[in-house]
Amino acid sequence: LFAGETEFVKGVVAMDGLPPADRIEVCFAGRSNVGKSSLINALTGRKGLARASNTPGRTQEINYFTAGDIYVVDLPGYGFANAPVAVVEKWQRLLKQYLSGRQTLRRVFVLIDARHGAKAVDEEIMSLLDSSAVTFQVVMTKVDKLRGDALQTSLDKTRAALAKHPAAFPELILTSSEKGDGIATLRAVIAGIE
Ligand code: GTP
Ligand code: MG
Repeated sequence: LFAGETEFVKGVVAMDGLPPADRIEVCFAGRSNVGKSSLINALTGRKGLARASNTPGRTQEINYFTAGDIYVVDLPGYGFANAPVAVVEKWQRLLKQYLSGRQTLRRVFVLIDARHGAKAVDEEIMSLLDSSAVTFQVVMTKVDKLRGDALQTSLDKTRAALAKHPAAFPELILTSSEKGDGIATLRAVIAGIE
């Protein structure tokens, strides 16, 4: 699915800029800096494809990539306050319109930093997806930064939080873009989406 056939398509800043809804798509959502762009790079094996950086708010557009015959979409982070209020509000509005109104969106991967667990903004997005009946699956990121016990506690908490969301897949996917954990699993999950 990803090998050798992933290309950047376009960056979108408004709903009317979305590419034609002529194929299914999956997207990566999550707080700023959680590792969305890094994960796309790890999936595709191409480091510089989606721009990742240590500066929260790196991704500022809805970025479309092709992977085989589906779209993979990198979203701007939510909950990022270090930008002018009007800009943040515009992003949030676009994000919500996209997440609740894209017909061909088959699954949202909600990324949660394994160290931090689900925050209020994550809960807000998951509730929005519940009410829009858009299926989502949680991907824990940066698992390389946690050891056994702490990771287990974080997973238990996240699973308990997910139980309240009808649109959630119960299975978590544990990943490290840095070390490669879970990348093959996530590729297989995406390849199985119809
Ligand atoms: P925005 O576009 O700002 O919303 O951020 P993002 O969610 O796309 O995060 P990005 O991929 O840019 O990564 C943010 C920072 O986290 C970078 O410094 C990455 O190197 C680091 N990072 C991402 N994934 C991992 C991981 O699996 N392990 C570790 N240790 N660091 C990671
Ligand atoms: Mg990004």
